[in-house]
Amino acid sequence: MSEKPTFYITTPIYYPSDNLHIGHSYTSTAADTMARFKKQSGYDVYFLTGTDEHGQKIERKAEAAGVTPQEYVDHIVDGIKKLWKLMDIEYDDFIRTTDERHVKSVQKIFKKLHDQGDIYKSEYEGWYCTPCESFWTELQLKDGCCPDCGRPVEKTREESYFFRLSKYQDWLIDYIKTHPDFIQPSTRTAEMLNNFLIPGLQDLCVSRTSIKWGIPVDFDPKHTVYVWLDALTNYINALGYGSDDDSLFQKYWPADIHLVGKEIVRFHTIIWPIMLHALGLPLPKQVFGHGWLVINGGKMSKSKGNVVDPVKLCERYSSDAIRYFLMREVPFGSDGEFTNEALIKRINADLANDLGNLVSRSVAMIEKYFGGVVPAPAEYTELDRKIIDQAQSLWQSVEKSMNALQFSSALAEIWKLIGECNRYIDQTTPWILAKNEADRPRLGTVMYVLLECARIVGVLIAPTMPRTPERIFAQIGVTDEALKTWDSVKTFGGAKPGSVVHKGEPLFPRIDVAKELERLEAENQAAQAEAQKAAKDELPAPQDEEKTVFTQKDLIAFDDFEKMQLVVAKVLKCEKVPKADKLLMSTLKVGNTERIVVSGIAKFYTPEEMIGKKVVLLANLAPRKIRGIESHGMLLCAANADDSKLSLLTVDADMEDGCEIG
Ligand code: ME8
Repeated sequence: MSEKPTFYITTPIYYPSDNLHIGHSYTSTAADTMARFKKQSGYDVYFLTGTDEHGQKIERKAEAAGVTPQEYVDHIVDGIKKLWKLMDIEYDDFIRTTDERHVKSVQKIFKKLHDQGDIYKSEYEGWYCTPCESFWTELQLKDGCCPDCGRPVEKTREESYFFRLSKYQDWLIDYIKTHPDFIQPSTRTAEMLNNFLIPGLQDLCVSRTSIKWGIPVDFDPKHTVYVWLDALTNYINALGYGSDDDSLFQKYWPADIHLVGKEIVRFHTIIWPIMLHALGLPLPKQVFGHGWLVINGGKMSKSKGNVVDPVKLCERYSSDAIRYFLMREVPFGSDGEFTNEALIKRINADLANDLGNLVSRSVAMIEKYFGGVVPAPAEYTELDRKIIDQAQSLWQSVEKSMNALQFSSALAEIWKLIGECNRYIDQTTPWILAKNEADRPRLGTVMYVLLECARIVGVLIAPTMPRTPERIFAQIGVTDEALKTWDSVKTFGGAKPGSVVHKGEPLFPRIDVAKELERLEAENQAAQAEAQKAAKDELPAPQDEEKTVFTQKDLIAFDDFEKMQLVVAKVLKCEKVPKADKLLMSTLKVGNTERIVVSGIAKFYTPEEMIGKKVVLLANLAPRKIRGIESHGMLLCAANADDSKLSLLTVDADMEDGCEIG
């Protein structure tokens, strides 16, 4: 048995999707980076990922594709594994919820919870969101739709088993309050407490009789285990929990980090801890909920046609460049906008220029001035000492940031040293030193400092960019494995004088920004057109839109604002205006009055959808005739620049029509 401390990290298990996008790669890249960092810094790491293959969503997709659910998922899982290989996601185990080891364990866990009275049989009546595989009560729905994804829900009524979440609610509140590191970042702790736990937990429906694609409850096989209950247990099942060989479980559980996207923190910090506690098991040390990569402020989605394909990006720019961008661009935990422009600029500025130049200039100068043989340093000056100090203490700030999953800060620290090295070249002017034989020792020292810094950088970037370090080491002539380790960067001076440098290909070729953007844009548009045609199972797709440009109009006085009479109005009737594609005519109730308003919203709302809505009306707009109909006022809407997206303004709480707004 190893003496090293253990570190167990997991990604969520992914829904089998035939086009995982760059957002999915985000969780895996972060988990892999963390796993590599921990391995590098001396831990015995276990990194788990996998696929979440059961549930109604898959059942329906398979049916639509005319194959069995198992055939459907088998095909897709291969593609997911290929993507992880391409992106150097080096997991220790890949669990599939269709694996026998998983199925058996879920059945045992279900039975144990049932036998000890934590799961009981009753009847479920409520709403189900298939895309999210989530149950909702009437009150939780938003405009009759899923409060998480906004898609339609289905009424469900059937005999079900329930898990007594309510019994453990107080215990969980107390646990979360006394373990401030359990949910990270800490803002998510407040969200879980205030939005879910303190208002009160209801027992959770944990079986379905209407869904067949799942794990049968072995003692009552017409019931299928609820997918989240099934899925969450993957984290212990993969370690052999409850099996004949649970040595991995004994060694690695509790997990150090479950890394998940922010939308599934709820499942991991409410259902999962309660299950574990009910099973008498310790909780994971931390659930970290990262933010989303968004496009134009919205989540990537196949139906919107705005998904970014990680395979294409890796093939074009290298997986290391993509991994670097993902980890560097956005502070981990926050949402971040993905743009092609930001990606290309980062590659050019940080990788081609900063890092690439440091290595290529150092190697080129050693070749030119020392015939490619690394010189020994002479006396260090104060200027040298400064950069040496920075280089040999760098691991400390990197370690601190990495341990807090602040990948972006860790990389920013490393790039500070790179920037300092490039400035050092300009300050020490080796090309002038080279002209004078008497300056040769000084020139040798400068070259050595640069080379050693490049080595340290090579070691420290390895968790994020697993391929680049070897390319750097090959160029700067570092062959000794001991000089590539975490410990080797704690002292300056590892690089060996006398070793030979080799000029190589540029680490990251510079990209012509304008040309590349044009090309990517054309590709995006083609992909969007295709995706929009293919996507039938998600929300209707808004058109691609330019980033909204906000230009402020001239200032107005408060009195000017006061002239507008904004009120809440209720739509009583609504119909299409004949021969006008865009217009709807609504009959509105405003307090004790009624009026007709014509609005250009027919592309976005059907007349039936309008009925009953509480909208915001500009009531004192002078009447106007539109297609022969006199319109009395204007419904307020938010719309984007090219009118491809529009949303009516409604009031948050249930306000009576006629209420004044201001
Ligand atoms: O949620 N930006 O699986 P999944 C950042 N099967 N991360 C994103 C993203 C984006 N645009 N889109 C997706 C599931 N992700 C469940 C998990 S665990 C017991 C069950 C991330 O395939 C998402 O946040 O929908 C999540 O961490 C991961 O991709 C898998 O999502």
